[in-house]
Amino acid sequence: MIPNNALAELKKIIAPGSLLTGPADLEEYATDSTKMRFMPDAVAFPSTGEEIAQIFRLANREYFPIIPRGGGSGKSGGALPVKGGLVLAMDRFNRILHIDTENLIARVEPFVITETFQNEVESLGLFYPPDPASADASTIGGNVAECAGGLRGLKYGVTGDYVLGLTVVLPTGEIIKTGVETMKGVAGYDLTSLIVGSEGTLAVITSITLKLLPRPEAKKTMIVFFRVIETAARTVSNIIRGKVIPATLEFLDRMSIECVRSHIKFPIPDETEAILLIEVDGSEMVVADDAEQVRKICMSSGATEFRLAASKDEVEEIWEARRKVSDSMLDLKPGKISEDVVVPRNRIPDLIRFLEELSKKYCLPIPAYGHAGDGNLHVNILLDNTPDEKKRGEMVVRELLQRVIDLGGTITGEHGIGITKAMYMDMEFSPPAITLMKQIKGVFDPNNVLNPGKIFL
Ligand code: LAC
Ligand code: ZN
Repeated sequence: MIPNNALAELKKIIAPGSLLTGPADLEEYATDSTKMRFMPDAVAFPSTGEEIAQIFRLANREYFPIIPRGGGSGKSGGALPVKGGLVLAMDRFNRILHIDTENLIARVEPFVITETFQNEVESLGLFYPPDPASADASTIGGNVAECAGGLRGLKYGVTGDYVLGLTVVLPTGEIIKTGVETMKGVAGYDLTSLIVGSEGTLAVITSITLKLLPRPEAKKTMIVFFRVIETAARTVSNIIRGKVIPATLEFLDRMSIECVRSHIKFPIPDETEAILLIEVDGSEMVVADDAEQVRKICMSSGATEFRLAASKDEVEEIWEARRKVSDSMLDLKPGKISEDVVVPRNRIPDLIRFLEELSKKYCLPIPAYGHAGDGNLHVNILLDNTPDEKKRGEMVVRELLQRVIDLGGTITGEHGIGITKAMYMDMEFSPPAITLMKQIKGVFDPNNVLNPGKIFL
């Protein structure tokens, strides 16, 4: 709860019309892509870092939570006000500040929509590779807070690989710069890396310096069909072993294909159990060679059909369908638990086999899709939301995460811990490691006013 006197002071800090307190207005800020719901007490739209700093000073004096929010597309509840408090809607920080075409660096405010930024730099012949499936709705700030991955992780890495520096407001009310605006820099501790992926628990980001690349000259997109799911999984390993690194190497099992089938216009051969979507990029000559190499590996690994996307429209259609899988899963069943586990890439076949076992053992559909080239699969446990199914769903999650850890993997590759995975942190980390993380949080935020209730139980 925000005390009444603090609410009155907030109105003095924030410009008129920039504070919402009416229940109907707050509704939109109570949820995110998890579909969970926690009502905030108020929502503020700050315009400057100094306003945010003042809000933090007030929050430390009056003890109320501050929850920063970007596009609200998070999948682990990072932007949810689980303990009430003030949501900081960063909407007004929406400018691309500078694109330096000589040094291949850009500076943006956190509420720039990822796709808007991608398009802007591409119009200048440059390239910002991180490409989360939510790019049309998520913000760069949210991507940085979660260290979002996406469809081009295999060749190009994730958001954190492109962040050179940040301006942030600390929960104690100071504004600092971290990192550099150059291509290198090792002075002091790497606070940038600490804040990237900290899920909005260490600082509020107000500007981001990003590294850019030249836009690849050409690309080729391929769809490969398989009648046996494990053959598709093994093909992923074979491609990586074949020393071709596609920009994108995505896997969809039969149920994942089914839920976006209406968006797919190309014919899908009967009895298809899995699809790989592959894109190679680079110079014209390299993409032609790489695509041929990928085709050979797929066919010798047992693919039933290989198809090169014939037109720009078909390419768009393929990626559009792929981006819709996550939300479309809810058309199959009213409930889902979505996981984003990662295993070493050559263990993807073991993971797929284990999902089949789990599905049989617990009598629940468990479709999987995602960034197979990264060893990162989105495993969805579909539920009818009965108490019994929910309980079985939780048992599946525990067994799944344990197996992933035993295979040498991690419980989350891109969506973060947030609230949905906080209870599983001790499966991956030892008590001293968790204590150290909590101590770091305490140094940044001694009164626990910034995004409390996340990551740690
Ligand atoms: C995706 C999201 C769920 O890859 O991360 O579709
Ligand atoms: Zn993903």
